Parts: sequence; C-alpha cells; structure tokens
Amino acid sequence: MERPSKPLRPAPDEPLSAPSVVVALLAEPGGSTAQRSEQALVRLGAEVEVSVHATAPELVRQMRSGGVDLLVLDGSLGDAVQRVLAARDPDAPPALVVAQGADEKLALSVFRRGAADCVALGPDYEEVLAVAALEQIQRFRAAAERGAAERRIRWLERLHEAIVEEIPAALAVVDARGRLVTVNPEFARCFDAPPREVVGRRFQDVLPETLRESGAIGRLIERAAAGHAPELRLARMRDASGERAFGVRAQRLDEDRRVLLVLAEVTLTEALTKELATLRRFGENVIENVNSALLVVDLEGRINYANPAAESLLGEKPIGSLWRWFDGALRERLVERTLREGVRFRGAEGLIARGSGERVPIGTSCAPMVDPDGVRRGAVVIFQDLTEIKQLQRQVLQAEKMASIGQLAAGVAHEINNPMGFIHANLFQLGEYVQDLARVFEEVQGLRKAAASGSLGEVARAAERLESVASELDADYLLEDCAKAVRESLEGSERIRHIVQDLRAFSHPDGSERSDADLNECLDSTANIVWTMMKHVVMLTKDYGELPPVRCFPMQIKQVFMNLLVNAYQALEEAGRGRERPGEIRLRTRAARGGVQIEVEDDGVGIPSADLNRIFDPFFTTKDVGVGTGLGLSIAYNIVKRHGGTMRVDSEPGVRTRFSIFLPRDGGEVAEEAP
Ligand SMILES: Nc1ncnc2c1ncn2[C@@H]1O[C@H](COP(=O)(O)OP(=O)(O)OP(=O)(O)O)[C@@H](O)[C@H]1O
Ligand SMILES: [Mg+2]
Repeated sequence: MERPSKPLRPAPDEPLSAPSVVVALLAEPGGSTAQRSEQALVRLGAEVEVSVHATAPELVRQMRSGGVDLLVLDGSLGDAVQRVLAARDPDAPPALVVAQGADEKLALSVFRRGAADCVALGPDYEEVLAVAALEQIQRFRAAAERGAAERRIRWLERLHEAIVEEIPAALAVVDARGRLVTVNPEFARCFDAPPREVVGRRFQDVLPETLRESGAIGRLIERAAAGHAPELRLARMRDASGERAFGVRAQRLDEDRRVLLVLAEVTLTEALTKELATLRRFGENVIENVNSALLVVDLEGRINYANPAAESLLGEKPIGSLWRWFDGALRERLVERTLREGVRFRGAEGLIARGSGERVPIGTSCAPMVDPDGVRRGAVVIFQDLTEIKQLQRQVLQAEKMASIGQLAAGVAHEINNPMGFIHANLFQLGEYVQDLARVFEEVQGLRKAAASGSLGEVARAAERLESVASELDADYLLEDCAKAVRESLEGSERIRHIVQDLRAFSHPDGSERSDADLNECLDSTANIVWTMMKHVVMLTKDYGELPPVRCFPMQIKQVFMNLLVNAYQALEEAGRGRERPGEIRLRTRAARGGVQIEVEDDGVGIPSADLNRIFDPFFTTKDVGVGTGLGLSIAYNIVKRHGGTMRVDSEPGVRTRFSIFLPRDGGEVAEEAP
C-alpha cells in the first residue's frame, strides 16, 4: 500500500466566521469616494472596520496579512486597481470596483481580471454598495468555511491512513456476514494474507483456526456487532516462528453492523513479563535464602527492607533506624562514606549488639543504592556473623603456632638442657657438702655436751676433734663453694624460667579485639625464642627504629615474624652446610607514612625467581616432607592483609632474601573500594 506522501501537521483549526467585518478600501483618503463608501459600509449593521489605502502595494499588504473580508477599489485610480486585482489569488477576498458612472469599458476590464461586481457612484450608491458588499461577504465566508472543512477532512483522512498503516496491530473490518471488508498491512504480514486476496473472504477462512478458537473470536465479533461494549481476549497460535499471543478486541463501527477487529501481538510483552517475573522470583529467592544478612536503608539509615537472615542475626525484626544496631566506627563509615559520598566498602569488621544484649562480631559490605537517574537513595548493607569464622581462624593460627614451636623444640631443649646440667651437678655437689657439714655438726654437738659436763679436759678434747674435722674437710672453702653453687643454680633456673615464659607468651591466643602494640617488642621477643635454636649457627643483627603503636592482633603479628624468622633460619641452615662463616639475619624496623615498615633479611640460599610468585601459595614448599608444610608464608600473608598491610619479597639466589612488611597504624580495621 502507498504511504501518505505529505507529512502530517496539526489539524487546521481556523475560525470559520469572524465576529466583525474588515474592508480594505483603495481610494484617495478623505475624498468623496472614500467618505461615501465608508458611510455605505456602516449600513451593513455588523461591526465594520474600514481601512483606506491610497496605493495598491499598501492594500495588497493588508490583504495578504489575512482577515480581510472585502476589497472596495475606486475605479478612477486605473492602474492601481488593475494591480490589486492582479495580486489576488483564488482564496483572496472578493473585490468590488466603484465606477464613476455607467462605465462599461471599465466594468468589462475589471470583471475580466476577477472583480466580483462593479458599482456605479450614483445617487443611490450607499444602498447599492451595502447590498453588493453584504452579498459578496456572505458568499466569501461560506466559501472559506467550506474550504477549511475540506482541508480538515483531508487531514483527518491522511491521519487515519497513517494510523492504519503504521499501527503495530492487525486491523480488519468485518461486515455483518462475516466477510473481510478491509485489512491493514500489519494484518497481511501477521496472517500472510495479502489484502487483494482476502478482502471479500470470510474471516474464518483467513484467521488460523487455533487463533480463532483460543480467542473465541467468532463470538467476540458477534457480540460487538450486537452492540456490546468492547472486550479484550487473549488468543494464541503457532507458526514457523513459534507460539504467538495476541490481544484481541472487536468494536461495532456502524449501523450496518460492521465490526472493527483489532489483533495486537503480545508475544514479546508476554515473554518479557514472564522473564521479569522469573528474574524477580529468582532475586527474591536468592535474597530470602542467602546466609548473609541484607538490609536496604535510606539516606537517613532507616531500614526499608530486611531479609530473613538479617532478622535471625539481629535476633528481632529490624524496623526503624539501623543505628540501633550499628554504632561507632561502623556507623560513621557507613554514613560518611557510603551514604554521603557514595563510596562502597567491603569487609569492615565490627561488633553489633543483639536485642538480647549479646555482642556479635560481623563483617560488613556496603554499596550505595542509586536510582536510574543517578540519584543516591540509600545503601545496601550486607553482613555476616563472624563468630564461627573467628573461632576457626584462631584455631588454625594456634595450630600453626604450635607447629612452629614444634620446630623450635630441639633448640629449646638444648637451651634448657645446659642450665639443667649444671643445676643438676651443683645439687649433687651440694648433697656431698651437706654430708660433710653433718660431720662438722656432729663434732659441734660433742663440744656442746662437753661444755655442759663442766669438765675443762673434755671441752679441750672436743674442741680439738672439731678443729681436726674442720680442717680435714676445708670448711671455709666448702661454705664458699656452697654459696656459689646455689647462686649458679638460681641463675640457671632463672634462664629456664625466661624461656618457658617466652614460649607461654607465644602460645597464648589473641583476644577478639585489636589492641595497640609495640612492634619492636613483638619482633624482639619472637626473635629471642627463635634465637634459642639458632644462636650457634647464626648472627642476629637488630636495627630497631622508633615506632608508633600499631592497632593489631599482636599474637598474629608475632606469628608472622616467627614464620619469617624460621624460614630465614632454615635458609641459612641449608646454605650453611659446607660454609665456614656463620649466617646472618638482619632485623630492621622503621616508622613509615601511615604505619611501620619491618624487614627480615637473611643471607641464606635465596629463592629462585621462578618460585617468587608461588611462595605465598598455600602448601608451596621446597622443603622435605616433615620439615615444611608450605603454610607459613600463606598464613603470614593473610594476617598482614587482614591488618590492611602489604608484604613484599625480593631475593638474589645464593646471596640474600628480604621480606618487607608494611602495616598501617589503624591495623586495617576497614578495607575500602573506590566508588
Ligand atoms: N628466607 C627464605 N629463603 C629462601 N627460601 C625461602 C625463604 N622463605 C621462604 N622460602 C621458600 O618459600 C617456601 C614456602 O615457605 P613457607 O614458609 O610458606 O613454607 P615452608 O617453610 O616450606 O613450610 P612451613 O612454613 O609451613 O613449615 C619455602 O619452602 C621456601 O622454598
Ligand atoms: Mg616456613
């Protein structure tokens, strides 16, 4: 079918009749023709507006600007009259020419040029002009109205045609006998029914049977023809492209019971609606069933939605303000970063108080919620109960720590064995000295008895015996040596006590909250333990700078140091076989921007560059079975990461290996992401 060639414009909406009459008069202003004409036109009764023009161009300009009902032209102006007549187009207002008398020649020439009438300027000029003017104006207005109505009808026809052709719905007009009167291009496309072939056929023979039956279309048409209000039915059919669905409506058009049938395809809409519903159900299922608690809050922190996990974690239905549960640093972070600045963060740890008052450790992630126009509306807050994870974490750390203590056991045993050796020897010696002292004491008793008997001779004999035993046993030396043995044994036992204390401190697990720690002290006490096993092979160089306190889990940080030190020691041991000079471990600490920098360097075997990016993998080890599990660095790395820090390694095989750790002062209580 052809498309409408002209673009559609808004419907013309011209006034069909003007309230007053406008006349443009070509005459000498103030002259008798002008005066008499004005008097004549006043008789028209309506409100009359006459504008007098002395020249043709002036009048033509007014005529073209519209709204003029009549032109009255003074014939004596000759050429100017001819020019005005020549400038008129077919829609122009009628022109009356005023002749100075019965001037047939003039009349003829102006009629030829399209003038409507010629009026003589005789004695009854006023009446004649009024009558002629009235007749012309009425005729002109009637014609103008007709023209406007016709233009409007043409416009509506084009609009109708465009709608019928472009509407994405199949349209058909069915007559009272069920025959197709007309169909639109979409109908032809949908049902493979070219208009030429289907017009005049019964709709039952054109529409697929499944479609007719599923939508009860026959009945729909009958009811519409009988004048029932239009109803909507859903009809389905199947073709090469699969199952299709249509919304069907029918409406009576006229007294001849012709019916307009509209079939709008809704296959895609239906599929999308279904998909949307599935997606929504899926989303709801996920949110309702995940283990993580999920809350949606507005910009003020009021809870708009909470999933069941949130309810069970908080121990009550979360209503009202989130700040009832989230306080302190967590709340501040959420308000300032996410709600105010739109920054998301992940893995912030904190504590919340349940309704019952119980404190629960949680890990929180937060993302701003932005509507399709980019306006921030609030935030999605997701959090998990970390109680169990924290416990497991502590257990794993503890196990690993115990394993490193196992590795130290030989060194520790040696360290304890030494003082134990001389304490034992001293005690043995003290035992013998006690026997000697018992003999001296026996003679002292004899002397006391002799003194009690009152016999001077007996006293002298007893004193002699005491003297001889004392000099035999070298009592002075004996007493001095006793004191020395006791002093030495005390020193030895003090050393043992120290070692045991360090070990106990090390095997002690961390509390559940970070505390401020002096990392020089942590590094030093850990090095002291490791030192016990390696002092015979290794030189330990310490270069400690002044450090600010660092918020951390100190035991975990000691664990990191321990793992690095044990690795360094093992690397030295390995290099040490067949090497003369002792190996060296250098410890260095410095304050750095926002935190501290700690380095553990050894001049052991080093790490081949191919291994460098695998050493932090769990279970990567180059050590013999039973020596290494390959967990040390992986655990150390994770501890540092959890503290918001970084760990780097560089190594020159055969020369040295250096591990550098940076830890921020706040111990990485919250990890943040860019928005
Ligand atoms: N200072 C070092 N010098 C040379 N190699 C090292 C050093 N530190 C680590 N490595 C290498 O990295 C590997 C992994 O170290 P990691 O501490 O993770 O495990 P491990 O020491 O083998 O076993 P574990 O520590 O669990 O007992 C080691 O096997 C070793 O090859
Ligand atoms: Mg190790």
